[in-house]
Amino acid sequence: MNKPSVLLLRQFPAEVEERLDRDFSPVRLTIEAERTREHILEVLPRCDAVCPSVVDRIDGEMIRHAGSRLRIISNFGVGYDNIDVEAARAAGVMVTNTPDVLTETTADIALMLILMAARRAGEGERLCRRGDWHGWEPAQLLGVDVTGKTLGLVGFGRIGQAVASRAYNGFRMNIAVYSRSRVAPEVLAQYSAMQLDTLPELLSRSDFVSLHCPSTPDTRGLIDAGAFSAMKRTAILINTARGDIIDEPALAEALRNGMIAAAGLDVYAREPLIDEGLLALENVVLLPHLGSATRETRTAMGMRMIDNLGDYFAGREPRDRVA
Ligand code: 8YV
Repeated sequence: MNKPSVLLLRQFPAEVEERLDRDFSPVRLTIEAERTREHILEVLPRCDAVCPSVVDRIDGEMIRHAGSRLRIISNFGVGYDNIDVEAARAAGVMVTNTPDVLTETTADIALMLILMAARRAGEGERLCRRGDWHGWEPAQLLGVDVTGKTLGLVGFGRIGQAVASRAYNGFRMNIAVYSRSRVAPEVLAQYSAMQLDTLPELLSRSDFVSLHCPSTPDTRGLIDAGAFSAMKRTAILINTARGDIIDEPALAEALRNGMIAAAGLDVYAREPLIDEGLLALENVVLLPHLGSATRETRTAMGMRMIDNLGDYFAGREPRDRVA
């Protein structure tokens, strides 16, 4: 039997590539110059599957143009806002993602940003590298403590809960949650967390606000000028979810004017572009979308992506079907 043909748009860790070569017939458009929209449109109708990542948009036109051969979009990543899921559904193309395996790794980055922003680690590092550190001073680069403060989580799925666990168990933080759905009391109890009914309530009580919701039409631009005016002037905003949940120019303005104290960002609305206003500020930590970037996790994500393909082509229901 012919192996299913799978379009790959990025190069994965070695073990993942080996398994793809063994179990499938990969078509690789992994070199930037080859990965043009025209080229993808040309190749997709000859593929049974495609494996995009956060940076590879699979839109309605691509899905419709692919025709009936394309059966499954196996996304490398938990967030799948890069895929037009409605178009996939309409065309009868399955969509899967890679949850669970990146939960802890992404939660680590959120905690790192909390600590870095609170303790002004980026500013300190830049000072050292510029050769401008002239010695210890009692009032130099003073940050704020994290221990015992209130952490407000927007979204309380797997990653939100893993952040709560670290913050509660490691830093005795008070956990507040704002989530679309009611969180079970026994889940909240694990972190002595309270669920608040409105976003402004969460924002006004929190010393740190960390975003853990997906990017959807409901959450795009959720953290805007109104949200910043609801936050404490000492508050620190953390984003490891999706950049477009924040109105970036409004964030730059809030950081410049002291409406909030600092921010830590791993994601941006127009990656890899970073808002000019943010780049000019000292009180924001900027990371290049490192959330799941460990060897172990990226390999596990690749394996999960292949498991979903394998299940589909073996006639089983993939465990991570989202559409
Ligand atoms: C991944 C992420 O690096 O999984 C996600 O949703 O944001 C990141 O951890 C990226 O999605 C890979 O496609």
